[in-house]
Amino acid sequence: MPLPLIIDCDPGVDDAIALLMALASPEFDLLGITTVAGNVPLALTAKNARKICQLAGRTEIDIYAGCPRPLLRPLVTAEQVHGSSGLEGADLPEPTVPLRSPHAVSFLIEQLTTAQQPITLAALGPLTNIAVALIQQPQILQNLQELVIMGGAIAQGNVTASAEFNFYVDPHAARVVFESGAKLTLISLDVTHQALTTPERLANIRAIGSPVSKAAADLLAYYGVTDAVKYGLPGAPLHDPCVIAYLLQPNLFTAEAAAVVIETQSELTLGRSVVNFQPVGAANARVMRTIRSAGFYQLLIERLERYVS
Ligand code: BDR
Ligand code: CA
Repeated sequence: MPLPLIIDCDPGVDDAIALLMALASPEFDLLGITTVAGNVPLALTAKNARKICQLAGRTEIDIYAGCPRPLLRPLVTAEQVHGSSGLEGADLPEPTVPLRSPHAVSFLIEQLTTAQQPITLAALGPLTNIAVALIQQPQILQNLQELVIMGGAIAQGNVTASAEFNFYVDPHAARVVFESGAKLTLISLDVTHQALTTPERLANIRAIGSPVSKAAADLLAYYGVTDAVKYGLPGAPLHDPCVIAYLLQPNLFTAEAAAVVIETQSELTLGRSVVNFQPVGAANARVMRTIRSAGFYQLLIERLERYVS
């Protein structure tokens, strides 16, 4: 039975690669894609999700736009990583697939309220849409199988020393989610910085030779520069596709239970994920510790090879 899945995202290059991976995976029954403001403003994240579905030839997938800004703070974007369009590096045509109504939050609530089977949610951007859905209709938890989140840092952040981008952009939404009681799985920077797109891996993606792999390689070549230079790494961390890899092959990862709390008070450490592996009370998340990166790239390439030349 394919896994009923909704992907909430802010494409963004690594979101786009995650979508391409998911769209090539029959293990999922992809019920819809929701977008949120994050890497670029909402109008662009919604447009970019449509571009990627079109590139993948999956024009039947329903795409919904959600919240245009975080709960309390002004929107912070990441054009320095993803370019002004959010998908810099590849020249993708304007999408003709429509954006669906209603609002992404209404879609999430409607799906999670009426689902015959529990739904898994992949969260690849700031958690605004998901927090608003949980506030508006807390009963949706009953049908939420698992919420797999890319966000946070146990060690160093990537926006500030303390905070990772998705949690920094909307720390209050992250706090709502981590206090919700949902079954949470967290994939933080500590794992995604083990999943580097080295020049050799990038060449392997390009060598597939299809229009999809060319677009993916062009996007990753642009995206690779900022983070690799910033951290002195041999390639850029490929954050969001780790969530899809976890859903397909959880044995690529090791995990530990932890109590995760999000800092919302201090300007200095705003958006920090405080991860306690020896909680006094109950743990509220499974936190990934390691990924087998060779296996991860093998899986990614195998999925990208499914798109015909
Ligand atoms: C996260 O921030 C975004 O720029 C990426 O798409 C990813 O979701 C990594 O910190
Ligand atoms: Ca993202």
